[in-house]
Amino acid sequence: MKKNIGFIGCGKMASAIINGISTNSEYLIKGAELNEEYAQSAMKRLGNIEVITDNTELVKTSEIIFIATKPNQVVEVLRGIKDFVTPEKLIVSIAAGITTEKIEKILTNARIVRVMPNTPALVKLGMFGVCAGSKATEEDENTIISILSSIGKCIKVEENQMDIVTAISGSGPAFFYQVIEDMARAGEKLGLDYEKSLTLAAQTALGSAQMIFNRDQTPVQTLIDNVATKGGCTFVGISEMKTQNSEKMFYDVISKTTDKACELGKS
Ligand SMILES: NC(=O)c1ccc[n+]([C@@H]2O[C@H](COP(=O)([O-])OP(=O)(O)OC[C@H]3O[C@@H](n4cnc5c(N)ncnc54)[C@H](OP(=O)(O)O)[C@@H]3O)[C@@H](O)[C@H]2O)c1
Repeated sequence: MKKNIGFIGCGKMASAIINGISTNSEYLIKGAELNEEYAQSAMKRLGNIEVITDNTELVKTSEIIFIATKPNQVVEVLRGIKDFVTPEKLIVSIAAGITTEKIEKILTNARIVRVMPNTPALVKLGMFGVCAGSKATEEDENTIISILSSIGKCIKVEENQMDIVTAISGSGPAFFYQVIEDMARAGEKLGLDYEKSLTLAAQTALGSAQMIFNRDQTPVQTLIDNVATKGGCTFVGISEMKTQNSEKMFYDVISKTTDKACELGKS
């Protein structure tokens, strides 16, 4: 039997997830968008997926329902579907800042799993932080992890850590794009062709991330030291990062983003 999975909101993040999991023949995926024009364009973008304009119809016909609208649209969506969320349905919220407690105030008996995804799910290299609401079981969490594992890595976290996850991996792609772009532009200013410089920076980011996953017990500092031989050119670059206090800059980036994620849930 195919699993019916519905997505309320088929924007950027939902599309990345749908594109990744829709190739699995075990799932029957459907989407909903309020606006007819958006529904039509989402259908075009997503290929074989039906996108309707009635959230309640989507809920009635789905076993697992992803809430994938902007955080400030979530409460309105929940109010609209609450009478149709029966106990056998599993609700998955991907909205930044919205706690399962807040969702449970509207969907009082619902089993809720909260997920913080990121857009590299589109290329099956997503990162997902996962936690469960008070009525969801470990099996519910594992069901969602097994769906998302085909398009990235999943880690279980405590709900009170979710805003930090949002900052590091939810927003993280934008930070890495910025770093890669800045490195590429520096290369360009120093005389390299921009596209070549961008390839050098992006492939180096990809390879370095893979080295971290392959490192076993080796501390990351050892990986740094292996490249930055004392007195060599990388050592000069690392010293400049220290002089400019990159650690503080990244702390501020992550902590300010975390604070904003927390605020999103309150508004
Ligand atoms: N983008 C990311 O990188 C990322 C990463 C992690 C988590 N998230 C989370 O993912 C969620 C979606 O973000 P996004 O970037 O994908 O936003 P988005 O592109 O704006 O997608 C949201 C979609 O939901 C539609 N929508 C709004 N109200 C609706 C309703 N009542 N019923 C059905 N559809 C409705 C929107 O249509 P309208 O435009 O007409 O309102 C829009 O097409 C957010 O809560 C965000 O926190 C995003």
